[in-house]
Amino acid sequence: MLGSPGAGKGTQAAILSDYYHIPHISTGDIFRQNLADNTALGQRARDFMNQGVLVPDDVTEAMVADRLSQPDTANGFILDGFPRNIAQGHALAAMLAERHVPLHGVIYIAVAHDLLVKRLVGRRVCAECGAGYHVEFDPPKVVDVCDRCGGKLIQRADDLPETVETRLKVYQEQTAPLIGFYREQGVLVEVDGAQSVDAVTRSIVHKLEALH
Ligand code: AP5
Ligand code: ZN
Repeated sequence: MLGSPGAGKGTQAAILSDYYHIPHISTGDIFRQNLADNTALGQRARDFMNQGVLVPDDVTEAMVADRLSQPDTANGFILDGFPRNIAQGHALAAMLAERHVPLHGVIYIAVAHDLLVKRLVGRRVCAECGAGYHVEFDPPKVVDVCDRCGGKLIQRADDLPETVETRLKVYQEQTAPLIGFYREQGVLVEVDGAQSVDAVTRSIVHKLEALH
């Protein structure tokens, strides 16, 4: 899944993971879990994440390689938040080649800047199960309570307005070049992410199936 912070990568990856019965691997979620558990990895990632900049490539790539070695990836997987720059794109190619796994498609979710800011500052996540909500676009039935598990909804530390601007800038400078990188490889699937969640999902599935 490729796209700016707030484009809806996590939302769509969770739906596609259920639909295709393959794991959703989010580097951001793995980092946040390590932060919550206060592991050595979490401690290394904390300052970078809170500032809204990328965690160093060596740390991120080692973490992804380790995750791809788990047995649940045997029938495929959805990567969300990785790769995040051209160097990580090359690292992923090497990891896939080593495992004899083809890259089927890169789903690029396009959303305009103003809408991204609105989505990010209004996002809430469940502290217990990680489910995502939005105060305006996808509110829970009871304010600040998770519909699925009754857990408390919180705001991510990097969803404060100043950090959001940094993340969007980092995306433009470092991640957006991957769009051309994958388009040249003929694997890019581009969808309009400003539509409803369901319409975005339908568009992704339709275009992915047309690709092969
Ligand atoms: P990460 O967790 O990957 O964050 P991100 O890329 O900034 O992406 P987001 O989770 O903010 O957005 P999303 O596209 O998943 O949107 P969502 O579906 O939640 O990374 C966090 C940090 O970790 C990075 O800054 C970095 O420090 C580090 N990191 C992670 N990976 C790394 C890597 N590879 N290398 C180095 N560092 C790395 O949707 C957003 C909101 O909009 C939600 O509220 C949702 O409900 C709502 N919404 C979604 N879709 C729709 C829709 N169609 N209509 C209306 N509302 C919608
Ligand atoms: Zn929950």
